[in-house]
Amino acid sequence: MLILGIESSCDETAASVVKDCRTICSSVVSTQIEEHKKYGGVVPEIASRRHCENILSVVRQALDEANVTLADLDGIAVTYAPGLIGALLVGVSFAKALAMSSGKPLIPVHHIAGHIATNYLTFPDLEPPYLCLVASGGHSHIIEVLSYTKFRVIGRTRDDAAGECFDKCARAMGFPYPGGVHVDNAAQSGDHTAFKLPHPIVAGNEFDFSFSGLKTAVINMLHNAEQKGIEVNKNDLSASLQYTISEILTDKTIKAAESLGYKKVALAGGVSANSGVRAALSEACAKHGFEFYMPEKKLCGDNGAMIACQGSYNFLNGITADESLNAIATLSMEDI
Ligand code: KG4
Ligand code: ZN
Repeated sequence: MLILGIESSCDETAASVVKDCRTICSSVVSTQIEEHKKYGGVVPEIASRRHCENILSVVRQALDEANVTLADLDGIAVTYAPGLIGALLVGVSFAKALAMSSGKPLIPVHHIAGHIATNYLTFPDLEPPYLCLVASGGHSHIIEVLSYTKFRVIGRTRDDAAGECFDKCARAMGFPYPGGVHVDNAAQSGDHTAFKLPHPIVAGNEFDFSFSGLKTAVINMLHNAEQKGIEVNKNDLSASLQYTISEILTDKTIKAAESLGYKKVALAGGVSANSGVRAALSEACAKHGFEFYMPEKKLCGDNGAMIACQGSYNFLNGITADESLNAIATLSMEDI
C-alpha cells in the first residue's frame, strides 16, 4: 500500500510517500522559516502564498524520490485540521484536485494524530494503546491513544502551548524565530538552577497545562533587568526555562500514566526535539518502569511522512473524504 501525505498547516510545505504504513519512501519538507524570521513569527498570509507557490513542486519531488507515479498510489492523505486556515486550504484544495482527477481515495488527517504517528515510523513494533504527550508550537496535550484512529484527550493547555512559551521567551532573550531550538542550544552551557521560575497551579483537571504565567515571568524578569541595566546570562536563563518546561510536561505525563494505568508512554510534536524534554521524560519513564517512545529528531517537526503514516491507518479503518472536505482551523481530536 502506497499513500501520499500532504502537510501545509503552518510554515512547512511537505509531502511524502509511505509504504505499508511505516516505511518512508520519500519525505520532502520545504520550510518558510527564513521568510517568517524577519517578522519574528509566522505571518499567515505569507504562509498561504508560499504554500500555493511550492506545493506542486514539493509533491512532484516526493513522488519522484519515491520512484512512483500518481497511478501507483492507493490514496492521497492531507492535513485538514487544525492550523492556519489559509495554509490548510492550500493543501486541502490541492489534495482534493489530485484525488478527484486521479480517481484515488482522499484521506483526511488531523495534524496532531499525524504527530503521534511519527513514533510508528520510528518504532516498527509500537502499537496502541499507550499514552502520548504531544507538545508543539500550537498544542500541549496528554492523549490516550486508544487505537490507531481513536483518541481521548485527558489534558490540554489552558493558554499557551509549550512551544509558544519557548518561542516567546526566546524572542525576549533576542533569539531569532523559531526560538525553541536556540534556547535548547544555549541551555547546553547554562546552569538550570540559576533562575527559580514559577510552576503553574492549574485548578480543575490535574492533567491540564498552563504556560502563560511562566512566559510572563521570564519576559517581566528580562524587562526589569534591562531597565536596571543588569545583564542576564542567556545560557543560564535558557537552561532554567528548559528545565522548568521539561519538569512540568514530565510530571503531568507520569501522573497521568500512573493514574490511568498505562505502562507505555510516547512523546511527539515539535517540542519533542528538545533535548531537555527528551531526557526528562525518558529518565522518568525508566524510573517508573514504563516503556518510552520518542520520534527520531528529523520527524519531530512538521513533515509529510507523519500525514502519510496516519493517513494509511485512517484508510485501513475506512476513514476517507469526498469532494466536500474542508479545512478547519480548530478541531479537537475527539471530534474527528
Ligand atoms: O510541531 P511543530 O513543528 O509545529 C506545530 O504544529 O506547532 O512545532 C514547532 C514548535 C515551535 O514552537 C518550535 O520552537 C518548537 O516546536 N521546537 C523546539 C525545538 N525544536 C522545535 N522547542 C524546544 N526545543 C527544540 N529543540
Ligand atoms: Zn505540528
